Amino acid sequence: MKIVFAEPSAPKSGTAVVGVFEDRKLTPSAVELDRQCNGTLTRALSVSKFKGRKDDSLAVLAPAGLDVARVLLIGLGKPASLDALGFQNAGGKIVALLDGAGETAAQVAIDAGDGVKIDPATAAAELAYGARLRGYRFDKYRTKEKPEQKPSLKTLTIAVAGANEAKKKFATLDKIVEAVFLTRDIVSEPANVIYPETLADQARGLEELGVEVEVLTRKEMKKLGMGALLGVGQGSERPPRLVVMQWKGAPDAKDQRPVAFVGKGVTFDTGGISIKPAGGMEDMKWDMAGSGVVIGLMKALAGRKAKVNAVGIGGLVENMPGGNAQRPGDIVTSMSGQTIEVLNTDAEGRLVLADALWYCQDRFKPRFMIDLATLTGAIIIALGSEYAGMYSTDDKLAKQLIAAGEAVGEKLWRMPLNDAYDRLMDSDAADIKNISGGRDAGSITAAQFLKRFVNDVPWAHLDIAGTTWSKKDTATVPKGATAFGLRLLDRLIADHYES
Ligand code: BES
Ligand code: MN
Ligand code: ZN
Repeated sequence: MKIVFAEPSAPKSGTAVVGVFEDRKLTPSAVELDRQCNGTLTRALSVSKFKGRKDDSLAVLAPAGLDVARVLLIGLGKPASLDALGFQNAGGKIVALLDGAGETAAQVAIDAGDGVKIDPATAAAELAYGARLRGYRFDKYRTKEKPEQKPSLKTLTIAVAGANEAKKKFATLDKIVEAVFLTRDIVSEPANVIYPETLADQARGLEELGVEVEVLTRKEMKKLGMGALLGVGQGSERPPRLVVMQWKGAPDAKDQRPVAFVGKGVTFDTGGISIKPAGGMEDMKWDMAGSGVVIGLMKALAGRKAKVNAVGIGGLVENMPGGNAQRPGDIVTSMSGQTIEVLNTDAEGRLVLADALWYCQDRFKPRFMIDLATLTGAIIIALGSEYAGMYSTDDKLAKQLIAAGEAVGEKLWRMPLNDAYDRLMDSDAADIKNISGGRDAGSITAAQFLKRFVNDVPWAHLDIAGTTWSKKDTATVPKGATAFGLRLLDRLIADHYES
């Protein structure tokens, strides 16, 4: 789908899309169209239950007096509460409706002076952003699809006064779209395609944008003492990798300590010897989403030339049973020096992160460190798919994260850390065990485990197990890989950490 920005003009073919506010209040463009078709739109409104609420829509087909084939009325809610997210959602909604209707071309009118607080150029760019985000589709393996089964919309024209300004604003947002699509692609790929070496290759692909990429092999990790990460990977034929990405965008790059992001990159999680049940195990191809988001985030920062120094690290392993797999009861020594009793080989993400987090703070002394991981089924029980779980040792960082999440529609709910939970991870045989032994507070005890591998640096952990893969379409995120966390962290940086 192509997006075009143009100065306002009367649409001649395809679908004309205009907004309607709550209580059937037409926007200026809708009033003009209604006049040209002798009130057909107001009549259509009066006989339908469409009231102009957010998420409402009404298609009027073949209106007499107009050149266009269809008018699509999009509900915008109350003008005063229409924000950037509202325009993104409208854009996504429009794409979904027209793709479903078999339409190939549409023109959306963005008005000035309609009581909306954001300026028309920004509104246009945000609408285009939402349209693009919703237009994503992972269909490379569908080789027999007929043309009519594919999305139909080819061109979305956005008519707005100040089209050039809108186009410029959208260019930055489109960099984020490209990054989101990279993440969605690599999270969607099956585990026979994306495994530690090929996931590291995806990170290497960012070199052309100016990201410095290093890939550590088993030998190098062994030298560093990463016994926890290596233990997880040892049952697999596919060797583990640690990928380290650096974006040095701060104006005075040498002075600024970086912000750091660490992702769980379990390219497939069978559970290992503590093997998972067969039903739904295919979902564990997306157990690398944390590192998928970190790779995408680095692409977004480099793409939009963010004025920040950022480090992205992915701990990449495949968790398989096998003749050399680690066994329940094994004791491994992590890079921190702490020994870990591995009582359940399916609690592997925390083992990978233990070494990746330690390495990150040790080498980079970051301003803060945020990890993302599809870490526990327990966070899905607690929060479902509406909020991701957030844990933090730093109130300021926690607040910034929550606000960034609200702004982009990737919501976080802060969960508690507490010494009483921490004690549940004490082991009789080693310094710490990798499961508490009960099912209670499963996401919290996992976070407490991670915390033992974090020193003084402000730290946050995002448990994205419930939000990284969606079973249903939402306005700007089609079902499947969501890239949850990418837009949130990009926003966090844009709002607080760029110089
Ligand atoms: N990758 C899983 C967590 C997960 C489960 C993500 C379902 C997405 C959907 C993780 O490695 C895991 O297996 N966690 C265990 C921990 C348990 C053994 C303490 C879990 O949540 O059951
Ligand atoms: Mn697991
Ligand atoms: Zn896992």
